[in-house]
Amino acid sequence: MENDQHKPVEFHNLLNPAMSRRQIIKTGGTVSAAGFLAGTSALSQAVSQATTLMSFPAVPTSTADTVVLPEGYEYDVLVSWGDPILKGASKFDVENSAEDQLGQYGDNTDGMSLFHLTDKDGGVDEDRAILAANSEYINKKFMHTHGGENLTADDVRKEIAAHGVNVFEVKRNWFNKWKVVKNSDLNRRLHGNADEFVLTGPVAGHPLVQTDMDRTGTKVIGTLNNCGNGQTPWGTYLTCEENFNGYFGAPAGTAFSDEQKAYGLSETGFDYNWWPTEERFNLAKHPNEANRFGWIVEIDPYNPSSKAMKRTAMGRFKHENAALTLSKDGHAVAYMGDDERGEFIYKFISRDTYREGDRAHNMTLLENGTLYAAKFNDNGSGEWVELTYGKNGLTQANGFDSQEYILVYARLAARFVGATTMDRPEWVACHPSSPMVFCTLTNNKYRGVRDNQPLNAANPREENPFGHIIRWVPENRDHKASRFGWDLFAMAGNPETQSGAMAGSDNVSADNMFNSPDGLMFDNDGRLWIQTDGNYSNEGIFAGQGNNQMLVADPVSGHIRRFMVGPNGCEITGITFSNDQRTVFVGIQHPSNAWPNAEKDGVPRSSVIAIRREDGGIVGA
Ligand code: FEO
Ligand code: CA
Ligand code: CA
Repeated sequence: MENDQHKPVEFHNLLNPAMSRRQIIKTGGTVSAAGFLAGTSALSQAVSQATTLMSFPAVPTSTADTVVLPEGYEYDVLVSWGDPILKGASKFDVENSAEDQLGQYGDNTDGMSLFHLTDKDGGVDEDRAILAANSEYINKKFMHTHGGENLTADDVRKEIAAHGVNVFEVKRNWFNKWKVVKNSDLNRRLHGNADEFVLTGPVAGHPLVQTDMDRTGTKVIGTLNNCGNGQTPWGTYLTCEENFNGYFGAPAGTAFSDEQKAYGLSETGFDYNWWPTEERFNLAKHPNEANRFGWIVEIDPYNPSSKAMKRTAMGRFKHENAALTLSKDGHAVAYMGDDERGEFIYKFISRDTYREGDRAHNMTLLENGTLYAAKFNDNGSGEWVELTYGKNGLTQANGFDSQEYILVYARLAARFVGATTMDRPEWVACHPSSPMVFCTLTNNKYRGVRDNQPLNAANPREENPFGHIIRWVPENRDHKASRFGWDLFAMAGNPETQSGAMAGSDNVSADNMFNSPDGLMFDNDGRLWIQTDGNYSNEGIFAGQGNNQMLVADPVSGHIRRFMVGPNGCEITGITFSNDQRTVFVGIQHPSNAWPNAEKDGVPRSSVIAIRREDGGIVGA
């Protein structure tokens, strides 16, 4: 299916060399690994300095049912749940069937990446691209005309079809607006019932992933709870399976193993109630089906007939996103969070190295490698502990039978080796030109409350209702290093209503406060974009914080400025930029009231919006 203009664009083509050179000079000299490792906080000295990274006017908090942007910015809705994206697909209607949903954009948009197409001369086509975007879960209440009670078999299939990944071409017109190209051959829906997934790597074929339906232990139906994402340097999309446990269930009285309990599997799951009609979700009959979810999945957006690869070497947990980078000697390195209270941050290093221009080779990089879990020492140093059979006590004597077992139950291995329990690791982001890595820790009501989640320097606040952002720099500025230095970039808080630790760090003020940082991404200029999934009551300790929002931070000076506030009830999820940085695509997940057009549609609809400057300039600058 690949024609000339569907040739993959690799990462190095997408960086503006002038921009990245400037950033290397600017950030490279200011924050050094040595500084971190010596235990000094670059942040405390830096936050008083001015920022030159951004000049947009900060927006105030809002509780309005609309998208609020800085003066001089505008947006339109690119695509909403139920919009047709495949040829011949039906128009949105709340009464759409499962069959209709198969050709339409899924619900609850989340992580996404833009993949530009090539122009006639083999360069980047600035105005044509493929958007790959996740549909994480569903809003049962709005999905059916009956509000989600007493599901029919077709209702269940509609819900499954509204999950997964949406891949579709987008095109920018003369008015600088991006539109979905509905009839493109590139468009596809990799939904929860799609027969297009292959388990690869060490666990493929292992008894732990064999089921009655698939004795080979390699062919999986569907991807579910696709939360954050990753974009590889070789132009593939990574979709990350998070709360897969919620879809499984079992009859009352079913016994659960310690391994199943460690992943939250239970009789009722999250009350989706799929298992009575879709038997593979019945854990009493098919316990191994759940082992085939919870992986990072690699998709080639340029090849619509390609299979999606579940990468077992990267470990099974509740994956938030995957931040991809390269070590100095060219190994692919992925940083990944496991979003649950008291779970861990992981790192994967590929066995083989990246070869520029050799896409077939690069597409095998995530098949084999080594998995590590992070230990954050209280003195500001840290280490990556290897999760390999035979190392660090991961042996049969301690209940770890094999490398396959360790990968399927990575949580158990990380806990056993003494990795640091974290306050719900959400997104990780790597700076584009300096070896800084940032991770959002969204909140954790059990911190300092449950014995297995004691206070520590990396997670220092009891019950942590506001969340924080941690950062680290690898030793020798090399992502392959097994040691790193870390500090806290920001403690979210409320300086208006709270004092002490709950007021937040010095870079949090009445003008930029927020809670529950979640989505996180660097643009090519090194601006750090922070999205929130927090308490939007605007009351009590959250008074004055308004609806969920998106902020921009200067990773060096520590300055944080509010860029956007979302409509009522929503969470801001997913972010990706056009190559020229003149458009940013942002997800508005589960709006609860009238946005974007409930008067016409009958219900609010999760959507991707495209934001640009009225003067056509670089977004965020
Ligand atoms: Fe799907 Fe942890 O957010
Ligand atoms: Ca999230
Ligand atoms: Ca979240």
